[in-house]
Amino acid sequence: MLLRAPILHTPRNPFKSVNALETFSDGALVIQDEKIIALGHFSDVQAAYPNLEIQDLRGGVLLPGFIDTHIHYPQIRVIGGLGMTLLDWLEKNTMPEEVRFADAVYARTVAKEFLHGLASHGTTTALVFGCHFAVGQTEFFQEALNSGLRITSGMVLSDRMLRSEMHQTPEKAYQDNIALIQRFHQQGKLLYAVTPRFSLSASEAILEVCQTLQREHSGLRFTSHINENDREIATVKDLFPWAKDYLETYEKFDLLHRHSVLAHSVHPTDSELSRMAATSTSASHCPCSNAALGSGIFPMTRHLKHNVHFSLGTDVGGGTGFGLLKEALQAYMLQRLAVNGTMLTPAHMLYLSTLAGAEALGLETQTGDLSVGKAADLVYLRPPEKSPLEVMMKHSPNPERMLAGIFALAGQESIQQVWVAGQSVYQRENLM
Ligand code: GUN
Ligand code: ZN
Repeated sequence: MLLRAPILHTPRNPFKSVNALETFSDGALVIQDEKIIALGHFSDVQAAYPNLEIQDLRGGVLLPGFIDTHIHYPQIRVIGGLGMTLLDWLEKNTMPEEVRFADAVYARTVAKEFLHGLASHGTTTALVFGCHFAVGQTEFFQEALNSGLRITSGMVLSDRMLRSEMHQTPEKAYQDNIALIQRFHQQGKLLYAVTPRFSLSASEAILEVCQTLQREHSGLRFTSHINENDREIATVKDLFPWAKDYLETYEKFDLLHRHSVLAHSVHPTDSELSRMAATSTSASHCPCSNAALGSGIFPMTRHLKHNVHFSLGTDVGGGTGFGLLKEALQAYMLQRLAVNGTMLTPAHMLYLSTLAGAEALGLETQTGDLSVGKAADLVYLRPPEKSPLEVMMKHSPNPERMLAGIFALAGQESIQQVWVAGQSVYQRENLM
């Protein structure tokens, strides 16, 4: 299959290299056996593959599939709980919904809604915070397998300070995790992530279970929350009197490594940032959630200065939706307003929505950009007729300006088709 369209991607990190954004205004790519085997100017690619049928997608653009490194599957139905801060929002908005995932039928229904939410927004890879119940997590993994998306997820572990139904004993947490790992880790495009909710709801015994699981299985990812909200941080300090800071509560149990992703990191100390960098731990930056819950502004410049890797997370349902384009725009906006903020270009925004996420998950050899040899994980974005986005795209002076306009204007209505490993996982129904 040869696809012809303008193509934009970031095969390099724009925080580290110049010319990280690569564009082909009349581009083409060829997909064979799940992978991209050619990428370039249409005339060159066509000359190399003269017998292939051409799918003409001009009028839209091809981008790499988006990568969301922090999103909660059991929260899709409670998006929009505005007017609260984290701990009240958890108690009033979120926990009453999350207890429902002990029911397999409910969990399966929501899993389908959630996975459709991802694909229909162009998200091809996601690190998904699961639910607290093995039953609900099994349903999620089954549906994720069926969806064809690249999903990393895990059952959420907690044994205090939430609702009692959501607590596990360390023994049960261990057994349920082992069963889920054996059944789903490295099946299809699934990976398992060890997922304590946050240190506030995880005793040392639960964190030890996380440590044991990681020691006993290779290739597991780790994810949790850190330094999101002042009251949360103060509570963690009280609960772990031996820890000099929040990070140490994970560090002590060997949970920080190249495949660890900690969501938020809004209020880190310099020492925490240095130790995140030293262990190659990533932060998942969730700007819509940080603003909606009033958590604070992500100190991006300090993360960059300390060399801490970060990518984007929508943090549904604390965040305001599934769109990575919107998330990147919000990151840009908040950095404009921050004291000592980082000025993001469209190249940074695309990188943070794609390759940075693949790097955080250790999937950068497979996905994140459209280089030859990577999996064909793609989004075809085409604006609705007569929309401001269509007008802007027709008149943009160069690809970088067009990309900036896409971040400003494009939403779910512009996602026309999405592929993972060359397989179509979403095609927009034409409603006209
Ligand atoms: N910290 C612990 N649980 C959550 C959650 O569900 N959302 C957010 N934003 N932070 C958390
Ligand atoms: Zn979260």
